[in-house]
This record gives sequence, C-alpha cells and structure tokens, in this order.
Amino acid sequence: MSKQADGPDVIIYGGPGSGKSTQAHLLAAFLSAYHLNAGALLRAFAHSNSQEAKAVAKAMAKGALVPARISTNLVTKFVSHAGKRRLVIEGYPRSMSQVYALDKILSSHHRSSAFVYIKLPVTVARARLLKRAKLEHRADDTPKAIAERIRVFHQQSKDILAHYRKTDRLITIDGNHTVTATKKLVERAIKDQSWTNKI
Ligand code: AP5
Repeated sequence: MSKQADGPDVIIYGGPGSGKSTQAHLLAAFLSAYHLNAGALLRAFAHSNSQEAKAVAKAMAKGALVPARISTNLVTKFVSHAGKRRLVIEGYPRSMSQVYALDKILSSHHRSSAFVYIKLPVTVARARLLKRAKLEHRADDTPKAIAERIRVFHQQSKDILAHYRKTDRLITIDGNHTVTATKKLVERAIKDQSWTNKI
C-alpha cells in the first residue's frame, strides 16, 4: 500500500525546452508537493569545490548526461527526506538505468508514481532555448550544447516512454500552448481519477 497521504508522486518528463521545469514548479505549488529538480540540484553540485564537481560542470556544459551514480545519489537522498509528502520529480529519469533505479527507490519507500510526458516539437523547443540563452546565461544554452541535449533526449526517450506506457503510468500532454494553458492540461490530467486506479 502507498505510504503517501496525498496521492502518487508525479514525474514530469520532456525534452530540453519542453517546459518541464516551468510546469513541475507550478504543479508542485498546486499539489503542495516537494519539487525535485535534478538539473538544478546538479547545477548546485557543480559549483561545489571538488574534482567530481568539476567533471559534472564539464559534462553539463557539453549537454551530456552526468555519471548516473551522482544523479542517482542526489535523487535517493531527496526521496528519503520526503517523508509522506508528495513529490513532483523532474529531470530524472533520463535513461533506462535511471528508470529502474527510480522504480526501486520509490518502491523501497512504498511510493507510487504517475508519469507526465510534455510533448513538444523540437523546432519550438529549440526556439524557446535560444530565447532563454539571450536572457539567462546557462552554460549549456549554446547551440552546440542544445543540439547535444536534444540528441541525448531522443536517444533515450523511446524506451523510457515504452516503460511507462507498459506499466500504465504514462500521461501525454501537448506542451505547444502557453504556460497557463499547459498548466491547466497538466492539472486536469492529474485530477482525473481514471489513471490513479491503474497505479
Ligand atoms: P536540465 O536543467 O533539466 O535541462 P534540460 O532537460 O535540457 O531542460 P531545460 O531546463 O532546458 O528545459 P525544460 O524542459 O525544463 O523547460 P523550461 O521550463 O526550463 O538538465 C541540464 C543538464 O543536467 C543535462 O543536460 C545533464 O547534463 C544534467 N542532468 C540533469 N538531470 C540528469 C540526470 N538525471 N542524469 C544525468 N545528467 C543529468 O523552459 C525552457 C524555456 O522555455 C524557459 O525560458 C521558459 O520560460 C520557456 N517556456 C516554458 N514553457 C513555455 C511555454 N509554454 N511557452 C513559451 N515559453 C515557455
């Protein structure tokens, strides 16, 4: 039986620029859940003063995945401190090994999960990221790093989506709307009870 008081955790998934961070932040506020943002945790880690942090910063700047051991450690710690509070998880998993690791972490804490995939055409996502690059200064918002992040996403996404489809946890949302309209679609999908019976 689920240990969670308020419902299953929600994993927000999507390619670079799909709006997963924006929507995860809004959904966490809507559900009064904790927001686990793997990319932000890793950016903070990359600023610490160690050889490992330097290697993480280098991988991130290229748009490559950081070693799974590091991201999985961060996620394991975060989940173990969540108690009964619901989680909105974003940026993890990004590979099948992370999918299996997350299933294991959540089940060891008697937690269940739903998986929301925000689908967006690559051209729209790339345009959003290039716009953000002019406003913010993320090291991985160069055209080359954006292209690599998109490539890595497409390399992994088919198997990841198949896993969540097979385990009846996949909810697909069209992310090609305004932030507010997408937020409404996500909230409606989460409130819809039909999928909660399956998990
Ligand atoms: P991460 O920070 O997660 O980057 P990402 O996956 O490339 O995603 P982005 O942050 O670029 O986009 P997003 O989908 O979150 O969209 P956002 O809401 O920001 O990860 C960075 C790196 O960390 C990885 O490349 C990897 O190196 C490492 N990493 C992270 N997790 C890892 C893991 N598990 N294992 C190994 N390595 C890992 O929106 C993008 C822009 O669009 C914003 O400017 C936003 O304001 C705008 N926007 C959002 N929604 C809309 C909308 N509806 N309409 C118009 N604009 C919008």
